[in-house]
Amino acid sequence: MATLLDLTQQGDVGTVSDDAYLKRTLRLMGPQQLYELWERQQWQSQAIELERDKKQWAAIPDEEKEDHLWGLSSFFVGEERVTTQFSALVMAYEDEQEEAFLTTQQVDEARHMQFFDRYYREVFALDERDIRSRLQRVRENVTPAFVTLFDENLVEECRRLIENPADVAAKVDFITTYHMVIEGVLALTGQHFMLEYYEKNDLMPGFVEGFSNIARDEHRHVAYGTWFLQQKLAQDESLKQRVQDKLMELLPVAAGVLVPPGYQLGDDYEFFGYTSKQQTEYAFTALTRRLKVIGVGLPVAA
Ligand SMILES: [Fe+2]
Ligand SMILES: [Fe+2]
Repeated sequence: MATLLDLTQQGDVGTVSDDAYLKRTLRLMGPQQLYELWERQQWQSQAIELERDKKQWAAIPDEEKEDHLWGLSSFFVGEERVTTQFSALVMAYEDEQEEAFLTTQQVDEARHMQFFDRYYREVFALDERDIRSRLQRVRENVTPAFVTLFDENLVEECRRLIENPADVAAKVDFITTYHMVIEGVLALTGQHFMLEYYEKNDLMPGFVEGFSNIARDEHRHVAYGTWFLQQKLAQDESLKQRVQDKLMELLPVAAGVLVPPGYQLGDDYEFFGYTSKQQTEYAFTALTRRLKVIGVGLPVAA
């Protein structure tokens, strides 16, 4: 199991709880160090043992299965989206260290998608013929907010950056959307609570192993995004407003992605035994820490 030390070693300041360390002058790990970390942290999505998971899944009552399937669907479809839409950022590298790191992140995202696909195939027994048809089936579970964020906002940021990979403003928008909102606010929050739930209940050990590896990768990805924004905003103060505007636009959409079926944004609900308030607090604490190091305040709604 990953320890807190492992997680902070991923270079993600979202996991640093002592405020005294969180300064704009904090020296973050750059792309070369993050690349080297990646080389030390390889894992195989196809080699994780899933036999106990299959037995446990068969014993879970049908109405409970729905919750698990809903919770994991956004991850499966989300990993496919962030794999393909990452191509823009690979094209926007500024030196060879960054190029090397960015290609590792794209491979990671493909590996994450492969892990979910294998899990849906082998444990949830989806019998469609290939990844695309399984994704299509799983898409029935995602919310309208998910579609807005992953099929519209993210796709549009990707298109703008492909059009002009040297456009710093487009790259800042892309990384704010991808690393700060999608990975930092959504993925890491969902992963934290779902992993805690499965571990506490001694459920789905193969899933816990794969999902922990995914979370470790995500912290490394967010570390890159934080590093990038810290140095770009230090060079050009006017970009601060850009980051804040993008967060203002996307945070309400992201909040909607986490709302389970039958509830509205703003309702109190429980998911996997955790309240909506706990989820929001967790997401905002980590985001605030990262923004502090980047040198931007959390935007406040007017
Ligand atoms: Fe991922
Ligand atoms: Fe990621």
